Amino acid sequence: MSKINVLDLRKKKADNERIVMVTAYDYTMARLVDKAGVDMVLVGDSLGMVVQGHDDTLPVTLDNMVYHTRCVARGLERAHLVADMPFMSFQINAEDALMSAGRLIKEGRAQSVKLEGGERSAGAISACVQAGIPVVGHVGLTPQSVNAMGGFRIQGRSDEQANAVVQDAIAVQEAGAFCLVLEGMPSDVAAEITQRLHIPTIGIGAGIHCDGQVLVCNDILGMDLSFAPRFVKRYARFEETAVEAFGTFAAEVRKNEFPGPEHSFRRKSAPRKVAKLY
Ligand code: KIV
Repeated sequence: MSKINVLDLRKKKADNERIVMVTAYDYTMARLVDKAGVDMVLVGDSLGMVVQGHDDTLPVTLDNMVYHTRCVARGLERAHLVADMPFMSFQINAEDALMSAGRLIKEGRAQSVKLEGGERSAGAISACVQAGIPVVGHVGLTPQSVNAMGGFRIQGRSDEQANAVVQDAIAVQEAGAFCLVLEGMPSDVAAEITQRLHIPTIGIGAGIHCDGQVLVCNDILGMDLSFAPRFVKRYARFEETAVEAFGTFAAEVRKNEFPGPEHSFRRKSAPRKVAKLY
């Protein structure tokens, strides 16, 4: 099965076909989202929050991203794999950006990289594109700027701010990005950007008028029911399912009910080898 590439994604915008992107951070989740037929899988630096338990994405290192991207790459057959460039892996200069992107492609086996920022990131984007590395841009609420924004704030609420977000989106396209994530902005701002750009836009908290949508896999599955941001729709309540399953396992172990004979080996009938352990 061939992987979805940048031309396929560009064609989807031309054909007015929606693009589906989901995050994944490991092999098992990658297998599941690929099986579900999503178009793009993002190894997001959101892993700093949902995998590592930090309050923001800033502590995530390039080594973390390379490691998780590699794990995800092994689980994909069809979806296009995008790896996020973490905080301070591309901001210093274009050479640094290229080295970081190169590692995500060479070692992580990503097909493209994503980096945050509009006009300020244009140099990094064009350096990667000139080296043959496809880039996904990311404007609006850019989580790596949490301290500069004074929190995770919706961007583009005033006319002046909205115009700045639109200019950022245009700068990303002009720098050579093939796709753009629009995060945390009013729907009408995202609609204007989507209409003005020839590259596809993928929204998160940016309304219905984008060319595609992305959500964090943990949010889709409802793996943490303790909070619910407005832009998230839960398609399952996995936290409840998981806690119930672990609880039942614990109870059966304590009551000496697990493992039963059907989960145990007998000398004569024991197989010499099991095909797969986990
Ligand atoms: O890090 C991430 O998962 C992201 C998406 C939410 C777009 O940047």
